[in-house]
Amino acid sequence: MSKKRVTVTDLRRMKADGERITMVTAYDATFAKLADRGGADVILVGDSLGMVIQGQEDTLGVTVDDIVYHTRAVVRGAQRAHVVADMPFMSYQADLQAAMQNAGRLLKEGGAQSVKLEGGEEHAELVFKLVRSGIPVMGHLGLTPQSVHAMGGFKVQGKSRDQAEQILRDAQALEAAGAYAIVLEGVPVELSRVITEALSIPTIGIGAGVDCDGQVLVIYDLLGLFDEFVPKFVKQFAKLGPDAVAAIGAYKEEVQAGTFPAEAHTFHAKEVLFRPRPVQVHPDPQDHGEDGMDGLYGVVPV
Ligand code: KIV
Repeated sequence: MSKKRVTVTDLRRMKADGERITMVTAYDATFAKLADRGGADVILVGDSLGMVIQGQEDTLGVTVDDIVYHTRAVVRGAQRAHVVADMPFMSYQADLQAAMQNAGRLLKEGGAQSVKLEGGEEHAELVFKLVRSGIPVMGHLGLTPQSVHAMGGFKVQGKSRDQAEQILRDAQALEAAGAYAIVLEGVPVELSRVITEALSIPTIGIGAGVDCDGQVLVIYDLLGLFDEFVPKFVKQFAKLGPDAVAAIGAYKEEVQAGTFPAEAHTFHAKEVLFRPRPVQVHPDPQDHGEDGMDGLYGVVPV
């Protein structure tokens, strides 16, 4: 497989050619390398790291520093995949200039090739400015996790006609502002199909049905590592969580039994390192010689 980095132009061409885009999240170099080897076209350093890496209940606590840190690691691991870094909650909503600077950090310090942000029409000006400044932007519509409280939970969006029309308008506004792709999360397939047909830029679905131009999954979900709760839209393509638990259990058994490390895992010196050494006896002030040891209780090498 070619090691040439996938660009936003490649992704647009893939839609035009009817070639589906495979996107997956990663948060460190090891998983990024695996995603790259597996052929992922895009790796998202998602703010989902707040949940799967940091153990938080939602994504709201994630900072720009967190994303910069994890993006650096991912970029070191991935040679081919396009790396897109998420803009965390309140790093772009309050102030246009701060938003530009934060997005810039994800490219300058993190090494990402583009950024992703949640929301539609309300961010069209920001998207336009970022793109004009040389920062490619991926949009994110539908179930936008940073709005979990406004949505009243992680709920499918766009089920009613009013909502669906707004999401379509948002998608068109993002395209017009220069976004190169849009994630559609948690929307009915009937809506994602219409949006995908209406746009010339790729749609990438998660819980949005099969008609999007590509799909994205959180890597911990697709590998079956995060299995306390498995949402309807997730397919576990492996069960690494149970495998990991079993492996750690087997390791513990061998540690306790003294069978690990075995000879195969053990290093040996090239020459004799220590010779038996003369020993020195220590007088024990409490011992009056009753045991025939003459008041001596220990020997140590000198
Ligand atoms: O943060 C994330 O992982 C995401 C994907 C679910 C699209 O935004």
